[in-house]
Amino acid sequence: MTQTTETATQEVDIVPVGQVPPLGVVPKKMHAWVIRPERFGEPTKSFQTEEMPVWDIGPDEVIVQVMAAGINYNAIWAGLGEPVNILKSHGLDFHIAGSDASGVVWKVGSAVRNWKVGDEVVLHCNHLVEAGVSDLQTIWGYETPDGSFAQFTRAQAQQLLPKPKDLTWEDAASYGLTYFTAHRMLIDRAEIQPGEDVLVWGGGGGLGVFAIQLCKAAGARAIAVVSSDEKAKLAMELGAHGVINRKDFPNLQYRPPETPEQTKARFQDMKAFGKKIWEILGEKKSVEVVFEHVGQRTFPASVWLASKYGRIVICGATTGYELTFDVRHLWMQQKRIIGSHFADADSSQRANRLVQQGLVRPVMTKLFTWDEIANAHQEMYENKLHGTVSALVGAPKPGLKNYEETLEAMKG
Ligand SMILES: NC(=O)c1ccc[n+]([C@@H]2O[C@H](COP(=O)([O-])OP(=O)(O)OC[C@H]3O[C@@H](n4cnc5c(N)ncnc54)[C@H](OP(=O)(O)O)[C@@H]3O)[C@@H](O)[C@H]2O)c1
Repeated sequence: MTQTTETATQEVDIVPVGQVPPLGVVPKKMHAWVIRPERFGEPTKSFQTEEMPVWDIGPDEVIVQVMAAGINYNAIWAGLGEPVNILKSHGLDFHIAGSDASGVVWKVGSAVRNWKVGDEVVLHCNHLVEAGVSDLQTIWGYETPDGSFAQFTRAQAQQLLPKPKDLTWEDAASYGLTYFTAHRMLIDRAEIQPGEDVLVWGGGGGLGVFAIQLCKAAGARAIAVVSSDEKAKLAMELGAHGVINRKDFPNLQYRPPETPEQTKARFQDMKAFGKKIWEILGEKKSVEVVFEHVGQRTFPASVWLASKYGRIVICGATTGYELTFDVRHLWMQQKRIIGSHFADADSSQRANRLVQQGLVRPVMTKLFTWDEIANAHQEMYENKLHGTVSALVGAPKPGLKNYEETLEAMKG
């Protein structure tokens, strides 16, 4: 697809949601879900639709017509104004959230060489503070104001990845943040090897569904921990070697402060949990890698359950950041704790190729419409969602996979 001179010179004020202007014509304004400090609060209060000017871009940036956007918890934090007022990081008095998207490149900056108008893309959310300096990263759509809950988003060209052709817009928008994080944790940081065994906490959650698939793709065996039969079924379908329902081991959870009796009960459940792992593996063997993001409740068990020389890789702490564990188990058995945070352009590209090759697939559990974007975040805030979730933005209906099909659907 190429931009024609005729369309590039047209002027458009704004188009309705579910319609697009001619390819490459950037309207003056766009519809967007906007957060403002005066309405900080729960998502149904903080998210409101407004008409906003479309972004100007710099030489290394692009405008993408968003077809679908992934729903992530960081937009809820942005709307709450907690734990930090994220608008202070970019200095504007409004914020458009959204750190996952699929769409069509609509305009490119003067220095962009690898992408052109009409390219179908997904975006990773690692936004470089200084182009070329990979360790100075901010999260696009969280620490930057120009995220994907709008008809048009602004991004750095280095954030673009080819959209896997076989996926719908909504599936393609659903996986970036969680999948690229899991990929970074297991492949780049823990460096899982064929034949290794990996304990995956939250095997039915956003990170976990990808951790299981990555283990399989790497020739490792995932033991998924879940809390329901539904999630156990999903984990096995995704290629887990076995599952453990954590509800069978209620005392394993660390809840400080503990009485001596509670500590004893916890160790008994940890041992029983370890035996369950042996049962699944068919031998008295520990897991070489533990995939951690639960934090305080599970971390002592994670350190204890990892094998000699084992690795505990961690990117988050859903149940609390203050981690307490018996460090003797770490030093005596020479285990390692490895921190990991999102991903960079290189690892996102390698991860995306596995999706393009069909070795990893998105697991979208619920799809919302444009009008439901505030409610989608409210449901996530109220813990009513699981897996990965996305919303239609520019795509007029679900199931569309490319721009041609989308234009046809818009006519109908
Ligand atoms: N640093 C980064 O770049 C980065 C990126 C993405 C996510 N994160 C963080 O990683 C964490 C997980 O993200 P996510 O998207 O996977 O969230 P999610 O979809 O909500 O899944 C979290 C999973 O954790 C499990 N869990 C919750 N409480 C637990 C407990 N007490 N014991 C054991 N398991 C428990 C749940 O599984 P069951 O109830 O089925 O066991 C749930 O499926 C979050 O804290 C998030 O902020 C960090």
